[in-house]
Amino acid sequence: MELLQGKVAVITGAARGIGAECGRRFARAGAAVVLLDVRDEGAQVCDEIGRHGGQALFVGCDVRDDDSLRTAFDRAATAFGRIDVVVVNAGINGLRAPIDRFPLEAFDELVATNLRGTFLTVRHAVPHLKRAGGSLVLMSSVNGTQTFHHAGTSVYCATKAAVSALARSLALELGRDGIRVNAVCPGHIRTAIDETTRRIDLEPIDAGLSFRNGSPALRRGVADAAEVADVCLFLASELSRHVSGTDVLVDGGHSLVA
Ligand SMILES: NC(=O)c1ccc[n+]([C@@H]2O[C@H](COP(=O)([O-])OP(=O)(O)OC[C@H]3O[C@@H](n4cnc5c(N)ncnc54)[C@H](O)[C@@H]3O)[C@@H](O)[C@H]2O)c1
Repeated sequence: MELLQGKVAVITGAARGIGAECGRRFARAGAAVVLLDVRDEGAQVCDEIGRHGGQALFVGCDVRDDDSLRTAFDRAATAFGRIDVVVVNAGINGLRAPIDRFPLEAFDELVATNLRGTFLTVRHAVPHLKRAGGSLVLMSSVNGTQTFHHAGTSVYCATKAAVSALARSLALELGRDGIRVNAVCPGHIRTAIDETTRRIDLEPIDAGLSFRNGSPALRRGVADAAEVADVCLFLASELSRHVSGTDVLVDGGHSLVA
């Protein structure tokens, strides 16, 4: 029996990167997947899953917007009749800059996407998950929970620390409803996220610590989205039935030496 046979999974930020890979892997594991993203490329991921025999629906959705999420969750529930798993993955690096040069708009953009977006997605997910129990997987990061040396990432780190705290609090709140909540903390993963990262004046605040590719703690260097998606699959499935309220690091041991 496939790990997610008969289950329905909603994944935010699923047009590319880690979210798209979760969509592909969950579909291969038997789930019907609902891919949400502001980018239209989500439709291509959806078609690809369909061509490989999977069930998928793409819904254009901005996680910063309450109405947009309400419509997306309504469409997911109407299309597939239930929701069992929600991967709250949409996120941005936003601006990297010294704190005294960090514009309020850039702070608001990061908080709106990474924290408000997570809160709103969870708020729409929970009434569906309460019907039969399920799994919420929140995408955090090692940055903000384990490592803090990337120059100019203080606001990003704060949003991800908040996401991890939210996962633990919610695990306690929602456990009685049969909902498990965990946070996934990737290290450096090969995706296109840096395309939209902006940088200002990082040299004076750089701690001079770089990724140690050759460290004995690492089996390999930078990982692919697939490595993170496999952990999300584990957390989504019954294999992790006794796992809730925890940060799962997916960094190959990087944060042991960083
Ligand atoms: N790549 C890494 O090294 C890394 C490390 C740690 C954590 N993460 C986290 O993993 C998650 C996925 O990152 P990725 O590397 O796959 O990035 P990515 O940029 O490849 O994919 C992120 C997706 O989220 C979507 N998105 C952004 N804002 C959105 C919004 N407002 N509404 C809906 N969708 C939105 C984007 O359109 C994109 O498709 C993020 O939360 C990121 O912070 C990534």
